[in-house]
Amino acid sequence: MKKRVGIEALAVAVPRRYVDIEDLARARGVDPAKFTAGLGAKEMAVNDPGEDSVSLAATAAARLIQQQGVDTSKLGMLVVGTETGVDHSKPIASHVHGLLKLPRAMRTFDSQHACYGGTAGLMAAAEWIASGAGAGRSALVVCTDIARYGLKTAGEPTQGGGAVALLVSETPDLLALDVGLNGVSTADVYDFWRPVGRREALVDGHYSITCYLDAMAGAYRGWRERAMEQGLVRWDSKLPSEQLSRILYHVPFCKMARKAHAQVRLCDLEDSGSGPATPEARDEAAKSQASYDAQVAKSLGLNARVGNVYTASLYLALAGQLHAEGAALAGQRMGLLSYGSGSCAEFFSGIVGEKAAERMARADLDTVLAKRERVSVEEYERLMNLPYDAPEAIAPEPGTFRLAEIHEFRRKYAGA
Ligand code: HMG
Repeated sequence: MKKRVGIEALAVAVPRRYVDIEDLARARGVDPAKFTAGLGAKEMAVNDPGEDSVSLAATAAARLIQQQGVDTSKLGMLVVGTETGVDHSKPIASHVHGLLKLPRAMRTFDSQHACYGGTAGLMAAAEWIASGAGAGRSALVVCTDIARYGLKTAGEPTQGGGAVALLVSETPDLLALDVGLNGVSTADVYDFWRPVGRREALVDGHYSITCYLDAMAGAYRGWRERAMEQGLVRWDSKLPSEQLSRILYHVPFCKMARKAHAQVRLCDLEDSGSGPATPEARDEAAKSQASYDAQVAKSLGLNARVGNVYTASLYLALAGQLHAEGAALAGQRMGLLSYGSGSCAEFFSGIVGEKAAERMARADLDTVLAKRERVSVEEYERLMNLPYDAPEAIAPEPGTFRLAEIHEFRRKYAGA
């Protein structure tokens, strides 16, 4: 018999500063409505060199352990999903393992495939547990990234940063995964990439949106086929996608979730054999505002205030969704879509646990965001221009880690 497996709890870490997106628009001579209504952004996290992908990952993982009372002797695996690596060889997972003084008898590694790396890690952990190989142990999966395109680029308002740590176990209080129902789609494309040695990503922005939508259509159809075989969704008066209580998407910017949701609906409308006859009428039905409001909008509260967090973006949407509606969704099935440029998309699903609201209350997300400091565009530009290897000497906030120095190519961290 298959084991129940999924996400037991989560914690979020974000940089201590953010810039208001309207301030950024005004400084760039752009109509603020383009960034707010056009992209769906409100605020954008701004990190300094001391808040690197390691310190954010370690802070999120330490917070998870502390907030949820995790017994670390029961952990058998630590996977870090990231595309903001700090070394070609030494994984971020080994830094996190050391900073948190985790048990020696653990499998630790990083997982990289653009924004998909976190989901690849989650699936490796979930399938390790479901197969019985974990022998009752749990896994930590940490998604950590800094999204950086550079000053005055088209991608600038879609930057961000942070980390989400997930505890994966046989007690899925947040989300019990439908193991084996996953639909996937891979294509070799150059939509977004960051060649070795570059701090800023390169992106073919509009093409990347097309690649995302194309990959997700394949992934969604794969999931739907398996879900139909198991009788979880059917062709009915409601579309199969409408039979999911909520659908969470990879969120490079919030408007993308709206486009993605229309694409999922379009797949159903095109494949249903009934419904609107013309492509124009199908497009119109796919863009249903009511469906977006009911199934997607409430998941975006955190993403709109943090920006893109690459591997962590989907899990920030999960945090936002359960923070907003954890109690109301208990027992209901949600769909989740992960996309990583390059590319790989995966659509999967799970059932919200009865203790989701209680677990989310412990994550204390309002405080995590409220503690941040709003900075001016001038200060944001100063921070962006600091060398990555010379962190400012700032004492870490209690419970957080910071990069203190890099000495002879070795990174030293302080805090927690
Ligand atoms: P852009 O070309 O500056 O913007 O870049 P635009 O002209 O496309 O406008 C954006 C939206 O604002 C449009 O809405 C405009 O109509 C609207 P849409 O037509 O798309 O619905 N707009 C306005 N709305 C209200 N008032 C106004 C106004 N003006 C315009 N005055 C772009 C936008 C997203 C391309 C750019 O920011 C970019 O390149 N971002 C980075 C790439 C990205 O996020 N791609 C997403 C898909 S790929 C992905 O998700 C993977 C990724 O996370 C990386 C990974 O996997 O590792 C990126």
